[in-house]
Amino acid sequence: KVPPNLTNEPVKNFGINDQKDWDLLRASITKFTDNGALEIPIVINGEKIYDRPTKPQVNPSKHSQVLANVAQASEEDIKAAIEASKTAKAKWASAPWADRAAVFLKAADLISTKYRYDMLAATMLGQGKNVFQAEIDCIAELIDFFKFNVKYAEEMYQQQPIESSPGVWNRAEYRPLEGFVYAVTPFNFTAIAGNLVGAPALMGNTVVWKPSATAALSNYVLLQILEEAGLPKGVINFIPGSPQEVTQHVLDDRAFSALHFTGSTDVFKQLYSKISSNVAEDKYRDFPRIVGETGGKNFHLVHPSASVDHSVLSTLRGSFEYQGQKCSATSRLFVPESLWPEFQTKLGAAMDNITIGNTAEPSNLQTFMGPVIHEQSFDKLAKAIDQAKTDPELKIVKGGEYDKEAGFFVQPTVVETTNPNHPFLTTEFFGPLLTAYVYPDAEFENIMETIDTATKYALTGSIFARDRDALRLAEEKLRYSAGNFYVNDKCTGAVVGQQWFGGARMSGTNDKAGSGNILSRFVSVRNIKENF
Ligand code: ALA
Repeated sequence: KVPPNLTNEPVKNFGINDQKDWDLLRASITKFTDNGALEIPIVINGEKIYDRPTKPQVNPSKHSQVLANVAQASEEDIKAAIEASKTAKAKWASAPWADRAAVFLKAADLISTKYRYDMLAATMLGQGKNVFQAEIDCIAELIDFFKFNVKYAEEMYQQQPIESSPGVWNRAEYRPLEGFVYAVTPFNFTAIAGNLVGAPALMGNTVVWKPSATAALSNYVLLQILEEAGLPKGVINFIPGSPQEVTQHVLDDRAFSALHFTGSTDVFKQLYSKISSNVAEDKYRDFPRIVGETGGKNFHLVHPSASVDHSVLSTLRGSFEYQGQKCSATSRLFVPESLWPEFQTKLGAAMDNITIGNTAEPSNLQTFMGPVIHEQSFDKLAKAIDQAKTDPELKIVKGGEYDKEAGFFVQPTVVETTNPNHPFLTTEFFGPLLTAYVYPDAEFENIMETIDTATKYALTGSIFARDRDALRLAEEKLRYSAGNFYVNDKCTGAVVGQQWFGGARMSGTNDKAGSGNILSRFVSVRNIKENF
């Protein structure tokens, strides 16, 4: 049972005196790197299938190092996974709620204790995170998702219709969806993968899980933890493989009931339209639930009354932590002319202190910034930086170097533009590339109009000001510009239960991960009226 005073999982410090923590972390990293590549199977109905063609998952800090060979699902495997989900459904859906909850509470406990360092190591090595970024992801946030979801589900199950007439008993039954759920999970947060499969499964659904090719290692470690915690066979079927092929077979199945997705806006749009056309052709039994969290072009708006030191530090963190590869990362910066010289100098000085390198190197685990996730991402960022060197409307004010010889390293880079509608202020690059626009102080109101209308996204955004009138105005004018709006804080780092996460417009369906709301998307309520 979740304690009534449930609080967020504390983040371990990894301070200089925490020698034992560092030793255990080093031991886990070396376990993954010194024993050759791990063979990662497909897992269908609890059965691990290894004898398939594989794809390597490399360390993005050192791409010559293959961490894992990941089995690729064939058409038969995908169909078998769908069938396994259907077969496992009846028992899991009718299992006592406490049994389902127990699996996730037990998994949370195993992550916090027995497997903490393995989870950290797998996420750091495979996804290029430093230890702090891994702690807040695959430990704290993942555990919070599992525990808070149980709490929210308990609250939901207790909500019942008000008895309206004598002799009548009304009740609500929170049925899982009738078919299965398809979870398409991203590389950038192990916790998000855990929530995308965990939330529907907790509510009694079974899941076909397509992990990201670049997060297979941590995701497989997580699956094994769930199995150890008692997850029955077939409830979550792990299907790494070609995204197009897996998706096509899954979406063509009549029993497909929901998509739980985090990834790019473009891919989500493709899936959305495929589902819609299948609905139009009567291919499904249900109207599938479509739950997606996609891209962002998130802003920091600095008002002339803001603290420069605080907004600089927040921008540094929002833009460059985890190499800017958070859907919430700060990628648009609006600073008033009066503050820009000081802002730019201080941001530049702070960036000079950023170390870049292999964040999972056991002999030095203090590096702040790691690589971007893969070569396509590196090439996209390198191309943008090259454009910034020649485009007359752009000027690189800091950074601007990149190097993929050993790993996919891109220097944190700030580009200033003279055009408030420049594509650099509307395109999501998903990397450590921040575009700044300097506005005349008197144009504060108008710049909010530009912030609101220039992009198709509306995920996160922040206002920095001491003047309360300015704060009120920004909250009002930017009402639909962000699903997560921050006042005097960076626009990343939503905490489960505290900042419900998600945006609207082309940033997703805004069903709010980390809240009880998302769970309601994975139940189909039956109302029962009984006369005495
Ligand atoms: N939920 C993550 C954040 O807020 C993406 O940074």
